[in-house]
Amino acid sequence: MPNPAPQRPQGAAITATAMYVPEQIVTNTDLAGTLDTSDEWIVTRTGIRERRKGAPGETTSMMGAEAVRDLMERRGLGPDDVDALIVATTTPDMVFPATACLIQDRLGLRQTWGFDLSAACSGFLYALTSGAQFIASGAHRRVVVVGSDLMSAIIDPRDRTTAVLFGDGAGAILLEPAEADYGLLDFHHRVDGSGRNDLCMPAGGSLRPASQETVAAREHYLRQNGRVVFKFAVSQMAGCIEVLLQRNGLTAADLAMVIPHQANQRILDATAERLGLPHENMASVIARYGNTTAATIPLALHDALARGRIQRGDLVVLVAVGAGFTVGATLMRWQ
Ligand SMILES: CC(C)(COP(=O)(O)OP(=O)(O)OC[C@H]1O[C@@H](n2cnc3c(N)ncnc32)[C@H](O)[C@@H]1OP(=O)(O)O)[C@@H](O)C(=O)NCCC(=O)NCCS
Repeated sequence: MPNPAPQRPQGAAITATAMYVPEQIVTNTDLAGTLDTSDEWIVTRTGIRERRKGAPGETTSMMGAEAVRDLMERRGLGPDDVDALIVATTTPDMVFPATACLIQDRLGLRQTWGFDLSAACSGFLYALTSGAQFIASGAHRRVVVVGSDLMSAIIDPRDRTTAVLFGDGAGAILLEPAEADYGLLDFHHRVDGSGRNDLCMPAGGSLRPASQETVAAREHYLRQNGRVVFKFAVSQMAGCIEVLLQRNGLTAADLAMVIPHQANQRILDATAERLGLPHENMASVIARYGNTTAATIPLALHDALARGRIQRGDLVVLVAVGAGFTVGATLMRWQ
């Protein structure tokens, strides 16, 4: 059974967006130089043409800080103006301390608390929903939500089944109190841990602490059962959106734009078809950035706004599926 619709008004709106990607572009042809793959295979099966790769020494917190720096400049915020900082990431600089602490320190934010949130590719959406609750409760007036992932740190460069899919990048948004009937209207999130082995990093946690054996077995890299994840993603992306549409008395035709997690263009196309949504209303930046995990949704949102695809009053859905499994969708009326 879906969650009951939360009480309205939730009272939080996205008032600014920003992004950062590293300079280095890695094309499919570059990858074909070291892996048994081809531009044709990658484009046909995934829609990805290129992705970014962090410079030597560049980290998740550095990328996240660059996105937040740009966000604060766009909104004219100073170091005392951010109440909370929530960082969604699967590739923290270290297991601890939290990436939020590192970004806070890098930017000299003086009045901020924050934390990291782990929900893989659904991380940004879960962080968005969490941050919105701080605004809705009246506890905070400005919450920064960051999705940042340096996927090159955990991708096996010898594994053609995953190395071609992922990229590095960061996106950030600012949440502030919304005008009545604008901003975040509803959300639907679910976790299903039975999928834990279909997309994971086997070692490095308390289950399999780092050892010579885990390193030799390449268990500190991401592992994926691609076909299982693909099927799950197609059914769940459409399913989550349908839950929100149904309980808010809407149809797909009411949506100006869907901003989906960017894992595979074929997942986006199949989701659009299941919903009867015009393909141009399904945001896609996957050709340029690949799957940047927690960063894909803020990157795609920033891009859609920059291209004028979202206007005040538009209904927009953000939707994600990730390791765990984690799924979720968020409905908003753009302010
Ligand atoms: C990973 C994915 C692109 C693979 O595409 P696919 O069409 O399912 O391909 P398959 O896994 O069935 O593999 C087909 C063949 O291509 C091969 N192949 C895999 N990667 C390849 C590559 N980069 N280049 C060339 N061939 C490749 C496979 O080895 C297989 O060969 P075989 O038939 O001889 O065994 C796809 O399953 C996918 O996108 N899954 C979801 C991933 C995802 O969303 N992850 C993130 C979730 S947040």
